[in-house]
Amino acid sequence: MDQNTKKQKAAEAVLDYITNGESLGIGSGSTVDILIENLSKVRNKIHKVVSSSIKSTKLLEANGFEVSELRDVGKLTKYIDGADEVNKDLQMIKGGGGALTREKILAHASEKFICIVDDSKKVDILGTFPLPIEVIPMSRSSVSLELIKHGGRPVLRENFISDNSNLILDIHNLQIMEPIKLERDINNIPGVVTNGIFALDHAHILLSANDDGVEVSELNA
Ligand code: 5RP
Repeated sequence: MDQNTKKQKAAEAVLDYITNGESLGIGSGSTVDILIENLSKVRNKIHKVVSSSIKSTKLLEANGFEVSELRDVGKLTKYIDGADEVNKDLQMIKGGGGALTREKILAHASEKFICIVDDSKKVDILGTFPLPIEVIPMSRSSVSLELIKHGGRPVLRENFISDNSNLILDIHNLQIMEPIKLERDINNIPGVVTNGIFALDHAHILLSANDDGVEVSELNA
């Protein structure tokens, strides 16, 4: 089964987790695009929907959904999003599409985060996928120097401006042995808006599609 078919399977499987009256946060990326294209199947269960990117907002609207602002919804019942890497503790690297800041805001505002991936995203140790960091433009060199001290090799994402008018640094060569600690450490560097480690706001449920079906992993916390 190819990667796109697996993304389709994961995106379809999550529809069963949507229950009546949801205030739903919607992530970004190709797996979520497939989810949005299928979301009208459960339209009657969705009370409000909040989006993590301009791209997802446009796709939701094209599918007939009115997208609400987070400030008008408050707490989200569920947040559904993909990931670039996910480990056994359901900690993730996200931000391959550059939408990490709004994604983290919605993940934090949500009671439950459901992550939908194809099985190529499952890893033992986070960091093979370059870690995206959204930075205020004037801080790109100073933040890069700090990440070099952590053993990383920062690369400015070319021709990319985030939805929040910031830059993205992609940090290569990291082996993230302590995701929560590194997430906090990077958050403390002046100029960093958001880093793509989602360990403090990890997923609660992982739906991972493989050749045999969709594997479900669930954390109690
Ligand atoms: C976007 C993200 C995406 O969730 C991540 O890049 C996975 O994308 P895809 O579903 O296309 O593989 O974090 O910022």
